[in-house]
Amino acid sequence: MDKKKTGRGHFTGSLGFVMAAAGSAIGLGNLWKFPYVAGISGGGLFIVFYLIFALVLGIPIMLSEMAVGRKTQLNAIGAFRSIDKKWSFVGVLEIACAFIILSYYSVVGGWVMKYIGSYLTGANVSDGAAFDTFVSSPVQPVIWHLLFMAVTVVVVIGGVQKGIETCSKWLLPLLFVLLIGVVVRSVTLPGSMEGLKFLFVPDTALLSDPKALIDSIVLAMGQVFFSLSLGLGIAITYGSYLKKDTNITKDTCTVVGLDTLMALLAGMAIMPAVFSFGMEPTGGPGLIFKTLPAVFDSMPLGRFFGLAFFFLVFIAALTSAIALLEVVTSFFIDTFHWRRRTATLVMGGLMALIGVFASLSMGPLSGFTIGGMNLFDAMGFLTDKILMPLAALATCLFVGHVWGVGKVTEEVERCGKRFAIRRVYGFLIRWVAPTLIAVIFVMGLIGG
Ligand code: PFF
Repeated sequence: MDKKKTGRGHFTGSLGFVMAAAGSAIGLGNLWKFPYVAGISGGGLFIVFYLIFALVLGIPIMLSEMAVGRKTQLNAIGAFRSIDKKWSFVGVLEIACAFIILSYYSVVGGWVMKYIGSYLTGANVSDGAAFDTFVSSPVQPVIWHLLFMAVTVVVVIGGVQKGIETCSKWLLPLLFVLLIGVVVRSVTLPGSMEGLKFLFVPDTALLSDPKALIDSIVLAMGQVFFSLSLGLGIAITYGSYLKKDTNITKDTCTVVGLDTLMALLAGMAIMPAVFSFGMEPTGGPGLIFKTLPAVFDSMPLGRFFGLAFFFLVFIAALTSAIALLEVVTSFFIDTFHWRRRTATLVMGGLMALIGVFASLSMGPLSGFTIGGMNLFDAMGFLTDKILMPLAALATCLFVGHVWGVGKVTEEVERCGKRFAIRRVYGFLIRWVAPTLIAVIFVMGLIGG
């Protein structure tokens, strides 16, 4: 089983791999979604749930995916199929999920590009109302979305492995440094303490409001899956490019740690500023686009920092979008033997089309709702609350009860080190994670 498939590349080393995996994980989920979701679902308490889920669900599931990927050296569907044919459906679920995510992810990626454009042309970017007008207008956001998708498609057609690695290795540290800079500015603004309190001090009022509490738990779990790119075969695919002597336990912890750090930093960059400028912390998807430009405007060299910041957000979004498109196209290439160019163009084109409707659903098509949500929100609901938990649940059951903890241990110990957390891991992946996901999944459906 261990035969190496010819022609498969390898990451040059652990650092390259960690950076690439972190590059796929760190994206709009951390910088755009985390702060606003924390804002609408209880601040500090949401963060507590998030951290617990990252620890007991994020780490074991990512480690499992990496082990499956490195063992089989195959893409997500091929990997499941090669171990047990009956489980190929998990791969199909994952592809469907990646397809839907990228359709709306690209819309937000387009907003980021528009901000870069505005900074470059000297347009006014710190007027919050302008953002609302922009996203709900029928033409502009659609064009930016198509542009973002086009860039993603071009990169994926070109083949990405080396590019992703190099790009992530240099630009992620830069994003980190810049983010720290923004955090420092943000927490030194007058009145910023309230923002930090909102973010970190658990709001106990939530404990007496069962509906809000359940919402917060459900959102925190979905956010962990989304942010860590779990249940989409990313770690399987990237793990398949790994050399046998890498320590995947350590790599998993590093990726989860970096991703969580970036999310927290994004929260700390945004929330203090929100409070300082007297804005609404529950402002939703527009939070990063309305607040941060105002922060930059209040700094010396603000426009330069604003431009640099949105450029790095763009790179972070692009590396994630590339991973999403790659998951979808590699399925069509491997399974139906499509040519890479055809698969990328057809799938990218379809997602672009659906994304157009997602974008319009915030403006001209806002009257069209599914279960009370516009299309953009409904897509997020479907992926975060239904498809990702289902795929993650299936992954836990598959690895814990079909492939087996023994096989994971064998794969983990290939690096020569003992799998010290084996018992904890086994308990989490076999019992805790599936039960937790199943319970929260049902709560999410009942709670809406
Ligand atoms: N984890 C990415 C983010 O936080 O923005 C989004 C993502 C990328 C999800 C790739 C899933 C994925 F396969």
